[in-house]
Amino acid sequence: MARNDGYLSAKESRRISKENKAITSKLEKKRRRRNVPESEYLTEMKDPNNAVEFENLHTFFFTDAGTVKSVDSVSFDVPLGKTVGVVGESGCGKSVTSLSLMQLLQRPQGQVVEGSIRLNTGEKVYEITKTPEHVMQHLRGNFMSMIFQEPMTSLNPVFKIGDQVDEVLFFHENIYKTKEEIKKRTIELLEMVGIANSEGVYNMYPHELSGGMRQRVMIAMALACNPKLIIADEPTTALDVTIQAQILDLLRGLKDKINSSIMLITHDLGVIAEMADYVVVMYSGRVVEAGTAKEIFANPAHPYTIGLMASKPVVGREVDKLYSIPGKVPNPINMPNYCYFRDRCDKRKPCCDGLYPSEIWLSETHRVSCYLYDENCEAKAE
Ligand SMILES: Nc1ncnc2c1ncn2[C@@H]1O[C@H](COP(=O)(O)OP(=O)(O)OP(=O)(O)O)[C@@H](O)[C@H]1O
Ligand code: SF4
Ligand SMILES: [Mg+2]
Repeated sequence: MARNDGYLSAKESRRISKENKAITSKLEKKRRRRNVPESEYLTEMKDPNNAVEFENLHTFFFTDAGTVKSVDSVSFDVPLGKTVGVVGESGCGKSVTSLSLMQLLQRPQGQVVEGSIRLNTGEKVYEITKTPEHVMQHLRGNFMSMIFQEPMTSLNPVFKIGDQVDEVLFFHENIYKTKEEIKKRTIELLEMVGIANSEGVYNMYPHELSGGMRQRVMIAMALACNPKLIIADEPTTALDVTIQAQILDLLRGLKDKINSSIMLITHDLGVIAEMADYVVVMYSGRVVEAGTAKEIFANPAHPYTIGLMASKPVVGREVDKLYSIPGKVPNPINMPNYCYFRDRCDKRKPCCDGLYPSEIWLSETHRVSCYLYDENCEAKAE
């Protein structure tokens, strides 16, 4: 185990590395099995009205410095045709949750070690954690697609933009028969995401575009095949507000046109307020609060969510200084066994020194992990 001061001797590091290799090799061996029968990875949804169900998901990275518990028992649903906004501080596991769903984790270090991700395509339900790679290749692009957070690392620097978007259509859309038809559709897609010189951009390399343009190319690629499930990881962070509004309209349009479900990851509470039906608040790899957008905005319950709400500027509200949450998140390699927010919490009570708080349901849809709502809190502190 890594020491709290962050120091790790070469001997310790070698030992950790050896242990990691043993764990990841075992998991990789399981992954690489051939001819896995469908019965092993087809399942049933708990609620058929959901497009995705994350249940008790644990995704860890086995690094030489120790095990990073990036996603530690995360559960939430994405209902069919709805938008679920996922918010939380940098490093809290938002991207890792979505990469687990796409099976695009950096392996072998990154592994789903426990839990379920059920994906409902309408015809079949897949247990993503057990679905083999060749089936995932079919699901990605055709059924679900992801707008990645970092366009420069997600676009291939040595291929032209046009070739990269063409490739998506070539592999996933069977309706375009000729190269010309595919090119026409690519140019249409580039125009759809607000790229003015679409013919010119078709022949450019990623480094010739601005960050915002690259982001829009990523969005065009993700929406190329009209996916039923869109995972948008900070889709508008690199864009200016006018383009941001256009992209959000585009996502909304697609949602209405083909009843797509959207998992929208963002730091921007304004975007969440505008787009989301449900909100999931994550903190240090866990869901600390979840509910309908109305519940979370009108009655935020967890002190972290309350802090987030207080730190956003509101038009017409005059303040000398915006609120900022003091302190920092715990070290992900050595997580404490008490509430992860405790050392930053201004509402802390004596019972908060106890074990990590369990989930409390405030309504049928609103849940929170915090001792403030635990009727037995005082008794637990004695
Ligand atoms: N390849 C990796 N190897 C080791 N640790 C990783 C890796 N990828 C992510 N992590 C760790 O997993 C945790 C969650 O990362 P994640 O990228 O999901 O954060 P995030 O919530 O998306 O943050 P941001 O808002 O900055 O995008 C972080 O502590 C990060 O250091
Ligand atoms: S459990 Fe206690 S320390 Fe943790 S967020 Fe709630 S009040 Fe704060
Ligand atoms: Mg991220």
